[in-house]
Amino acid sequence: MTEPAGKRALITGITGQDGSYLAELLLSKGYEVHGLVRRSSSFNTSRIDHLYVDPHEPDARLFLHYGDLTDGARLVTLLTTIKPAEVYNLAAQSHVRVSFDEPVHTGDTTGMGSMRLLEAVRLSGLDCRFYQASSSEMFGASPPPQDEDTPFYPRSPYGAAKVYSYWATRNYREAYGMFAVNGILFNHESPRRGETFVTRKITRAVARIKAGVQDKLYLGNLDAVRDWGYAPEYVEGMWMMLQSDVADDYVLATGRGFTVREFVEASFSHVGLDWEDHVVFDERYLRPTEVDALIGDAGKAERALGWQAKTHSADLARLMVAADVTAQECEGRPWIDQPLVAGWPSA
Ligand SMILES: NC(=O)c1ccc[n+]([C@@H]2O[C@H](COP(=O)([O-])OP(=O)(O)OC[C@H]3O[C@@H](n4cnc5c(N)ncnc54)[C@H](OP(=O)(O)O)[C@@H]3O)[C@@H](O)[C@H]2O)c1
Repeated sequence: MTEPAGKRALITGITGQDGSYLAELLLSKGYEVHGLVRRSSSFNTSRIDHLYVDPHEPDARLFLHYGDLTDGARLVTLLTTIKPAEVYNLAAQSHVRVSFDEPVHTGDTTGMGSMRLLEAVRLSGLDCRFYQASSSEMFGASPPPQDEDTPFYPRSPYGAAKVYSYWATRNYREAYGMFAVNGILFNHESPRRGETFVTRKITRAVARIKAGVQDKLYLGNLDAVRDWGYAPEYVEGMWMMLQSDVADDYVLATGRGFTVREFVEASFSHVGLDWEDHVVFDERYLRPTEVDALIGDAGKAERALGWQAKTHSADLARLMVAADVTAQECEGRPWIDQPLVAGWPSA
């Protein structure tokens, strides 16, 4: 795949796990990167601080703009000002369990937010490519293996909102001829994963237990099966989708299932601990409707884009534990104190 020179991209959700890796990837490819950042009373840019260069510097290629997916007028203003060639819509209320607590807010950002951004692209008249961060949670109760033709059966307000965004993206592609694609991504994790998502909650707790500052880890459903991959590989897949000749929708997944219990076992055993001495069941982490098993078939992405997951769940657990142990020891942020991504997967 040929690499572009001097392209400009806009990333919503740049302060999140995927947004930070995508920003790194695009900067490494010579892009000028613009990111949408929510105004907050405290700093929310810790995942991208290491990329930031004062915009007054002549070599600055990362620019941040205040904005929110709930403010459609602002999105139009930003698009007409920035004029990006590629728009990556990664912003969302992305936590499934939280979406049961905040269903309306989740619908407004994770669902309507995408429609606002698509409409802003249309109104601004830009000829740009659009990536929508769709999710395996859209499959919900449909049994595995899930691929692009599997019927959606969302089991959470988050999943339902993502289905809305999926169809909005397809509709803008079909109605207006926009180059708009859905990446249907199965779970992907990293040392930058939010601390309340189950994988990171586990690996962080393992590091704290090993250091003697925590003893118990409270978890919900240990039997849930997920297909966990490594986030830097998945953001490269996003980019590949927008470089393709045709706009289409793709599943990205490892193709292998791993239970939460297996992730727990792999994480604890990596530092020589027995998980059964520390893990305690707490029903508060159960969801009103559970998703039993998500295992993706990424065959289409492999055939059409040449994309394939390289890191699988057990290795992922180990690299996340190692990063959290380092962070615990130096009270730092693992992605800054000890970069784990020496080169991009395709490099
Ligand atoms: N990671 C996965 O396994 C996975 C799988 C499938 C799909 N996805 C989807 O992929 C995208 C990226 O995932 P992620 O893991 O990087 O999520 P994340 O770490 O939770 O990041 C979400 C990002 O969205 C921003 N955001 C939230 N509400 C917003 C709003 N109203 N306006 C503007 N920005 C807003 C957040 O800003 P703050 O930093 O200010 O909170 C953050 O930058 C999400 O859409 C997610 O639903 C993720």
